[in-house]
Amino acid sequence: MKIAIVTGASSGMGREFVRQLDKCMQTIDEIWVIARRVDKLESLKEEVSNIPIRVLALDISKKKDITTFSNMLAAEKPEVRLLVHSAGVGYAGRFDEVLRADAEEMTVVNDVAVVLITHVLLNYMTCPSNIIILASASAFLPQKEFAIYAASKAYILSFSRALNAELKNKGVCVTAVCPGPVDTEFLNKCNDGRKEKLLKKLVKVKPEPVVKKALIDAKAGKDISVYGIPMKLVHIASKILPSSLMLKFM
Ligand SMILES: NC(=O)c1ccc[n+]([C@@H]2O[C@H](COP(=O)([O-])OP(=O)(O)OC[C@H]3O[C@@H](n4cnc5c(N)ncnc54)[C@H](OP(=O)(O)O)[C@@H]3O)[C@@H](O)[C@H]2O)c1
Repeated sequence: MKIAIVTGASSGMGREFVRQLDKCMQTIDEIWVIARRVDKLESLKEEVSNIPIRVLALDISKKKDITTFSNMLAAEKPEVRLLVHSAGVGYAGRFDEVLRADAEEMTVVNDVAVVLITHVLLNYMTCPSNIIILASASAFLPQKEFAIYAASKAYILSFSRALNAELKNKGVCVTAVCPGPVDTEFLNKCNDGRKEKLLKKLVKVKPEPVVKKALIDAKAGKDISVYGIPMKLVHIASKILPSSLMLKFM
């Protein structure tokens, strides 16, 4: 059985990946969708019509759920053609104000879970196949009042690019997606009642074009996907300007 797996499929970009895959990836037998909110995952079945959906209610921050997932794969032995890591969390605020539990959740969900799930799934990835990892434009530079999140995304961007270099010859392409602010539940949760910064408001985009570009870039074998001129400029600036200057500007 040939499958695609999407984590964080209950909302935002993960959900949009499932919708777009249903239209463009007709060669797979099932899409396995992962998140904690089962009702949201189940409701995806009403939105997609071409490819059957299999709902996996997993909390990827829990090692026991990763083990459950690993056992399930061992029993089913699917051929994984596409893995999308879209689950992620972010909490803004000064480091000394961020709750310890939130700090831990950011590093576990954004980094540890991505590494563990990729490790588990690598044995089932067939050639050719793709891994898409939702990093962020926050990965390009350290960010005040978003220090843990930006660091967690810098970690995953580095991991993604190195993994791509390692797996290229095996026919597995790894693409890191680095959007700026995207209009999803994520922004509301991360702002937690704080006023959205004007710069973020101005460059905020919808999930659809970000996901569309990510799928095109992954198909083209790119190791990084950056949507929109503002984020492309941030990417270039982060390569040529010192971080201290960028930190001041941000
Ligand atoms: N939105 C932005 O501005 C933005 C910008 C750059 C990068 N990103 C990154 O893009 C990715 C997708 O974000 P989004 O904007 O689509 O956010 P979103 O709408 O909040 O979706 C996040 C998804 O992650 C899942 N998730 C969170 N914790 C989980 C856990 N412990 N176990 C399983 N699933 C979990 C959520 O599902 P449940 O709650 O149902 O478990 C949800 O489906 C994230 O990695 C985010 O960091 C977002």
